[in-house]
Amino acid sequence: MNVLNRLRAAFAAATPEGGDPSAFAAAVRPAGDPKFGDYQANGCMAVAKSLKKNPREVAVAVAEAVDLEPLAGKPEVAGPGFLNVRLHDEWLTAQVAELLRDPAHGLTAPEAKKTVVIDFSSPNVAKPMHVGHLRSTVIGDSLARIFEALGHTVVRDNHLGDWGAQFGMILWGWKNHRDQAAYDVDPVAELSRLYRLASSKIKEGDRDVESAARAETAKLHAGDAENRDLWAQFMPHCLKALHAMYDRLGVRFDVELGESFYDPMLADVVSDLEAKGIAETSEGAVVAFVEGIKAPFIVRKRDGAFNYGTTDLATIRYREQTWDPDQALYVVDARQADHFKQLFAVARRWGYGKVDLQHVAFGTIMGADRRPYKTRDGDVVGLESLLDEAVAEARKVVDANSPDIEPDDRARIAEIVGLGAVKYADLSQNRISDYVFDWSKMLAMNGNTATYLQYAYARIQSILRKGGVSSESIRDRAPAILLSHPAERGLAVRVLRLPEVLELAASELKPNILTDYLFDLANAYSTFYEGCPVLKAESDERRDSRLALCDLTAQTLKHGLSILGIDVVDRM
Ligand code: ARG
Repeated sequence: MNVLNRLRAAFAAATPEGGDPSAFAAAVRPAGDPKFGDYQANGCMAVAKSLKKNPREVAVAVAEAVDLEPLAGKPEVAGPGFLNVRLHDEWLTAQVAELLRDPAHGLTAPEAKKTVVIDFSSPNVAKPMHVGHLRSTVIGDSLARIFEALGHTVVRDNHLGDWGAQFGMILWGWKNHRDQAAYDVDPVAELSRLYRLASSKIKEGDRDVESAARAETAKLHAGDAENRDLWAQFMPHCLKALHAMYDRLGVRFDVELGESFYDPMLADVVSDLEAKGIAETSEGAVVAFVEGIKAPFIVRKRDGAFNYGTTDLATIRYREQTWDPDQALYVVDARQADHFKQLFAVARRWGYGKVDLQHVAFGTIMGADRRPYKTRDGDVVGLESLLDEAVAEARKVVDANSPDIEPDDRARIAEIVGLGAVKYADLSQNRISDYVFDWSKMLAMNGNTATYLQYAYARIQSILRKGGVSSESIRDRAPAILLSHPAERGLAVRVLRLPEVLELAASELKPNILTDYLFDLANAYSTFYEGCPVLKAESDERRDSRLALCDLTAQTLKHGLSILGIDVVDRM
């Protein structure tokens, strides 16, 4: 059950006359401090201001009118016009007992089931995957898991850049500089060497290489047999390397429809746009103009070539025809904001206005020097070596913490802890901001890290082991829940919050809403652990109730982390 939504609906119904019920409801939030109850309704001040009334009087009237039963009684009026809601203890107790019996963690089928296409990861293949690909992959995967956990249909689409200029560069390298023996041993390494060779020559200002590479791309697009064959030969190797990375990260896709897939549709897209008067010829190119952005949105270049934007328009049409989605999310670097603004505007004009198109933008990963994260030689950091380093750092933590665990197990735990740390460091940021990559912070045992949450989970498992019980045996016994200590109550309120947190994260497209919640839950557990003896509780009833609260916390942490794409371990 979504407690926040229940309270919001009740407050919406009690909105003072002349006020806006949805704004009034939106001002209901979990309380930041237990002093102010469990939830707070903060909308009275704004309503009073717009109606020119006394905020406290408005609050008193709302407190009188609102019906929160059976969840809570009359809210308490505080300060200039806040309303503090305290959930009834009996209601809380019953809800927690029910949660203990519910394998779905309190999540129920959505009122309106949506189909959501999530375009994420989408790297340009044939370039080695680097740290910049991490954010889209990790954020997109987590959003997919959030929508799935809420019961929506998700289409995970890896919109591979498999048709762009980088292939021309590789083709040029292949024809002029290939090392066949090296290719036979490790094709991807050789292709990326050729790519880097071409790219560095072009960066140095070598116009001949630049135009030769562009000519190779044009030939590929025009259907040149040799280039198409080479493309078909290179692609499986590139995909294999990508998939190895996705497997390691635990990321999967439903479809991988790269840019090449849309190539046959592009001529038709442009002629349709022209026929409908959406695009026009300007200086030899076919373009569409979008208000507020000076640069034209080019759908066919002067030399006749189609581009990134044309492909994205074809993609919108294809997705609508194939899945008829309610929402399409593009998890892409914030630097592409103008592209998506133009793309969405043109698509709406073209008739694709029903689907809610959203650019889920994110900032850059920075090094300690506050510049985009690079290796010491100034190269972008390869994703593979980054993950290896994370696991090596995690291994140090595990070795220091649990030297008694078997080395093989420690290696397995380090992989989970290392990958979790990297993913969580990314997901716990407000995605729009840049963030600084810092090994010691992201593996801290104390703080807003995956390591801290995994450790909280492992500590609970150790209590259960010592108590000779398991999650299953606790749930089978279904003990009475006793909430006499404030720390027990604090845990109960929080384990019930998972459904509302997931809905907030989905509506704002922000996994950090989930990480903040899990961190808050782990902190509440810490307070509980200090204040409430579990195995040495004063009575069997209390012990059983506390074991149940421990287990609910652990299962909520585990499920929440899994929605971030992060695993837990029983010992670490
Ligand atoms: N391949 C692009 C890049 O690496 C990202 C593609 C994002 N998706 C899209 N439909 N445009 O910059």
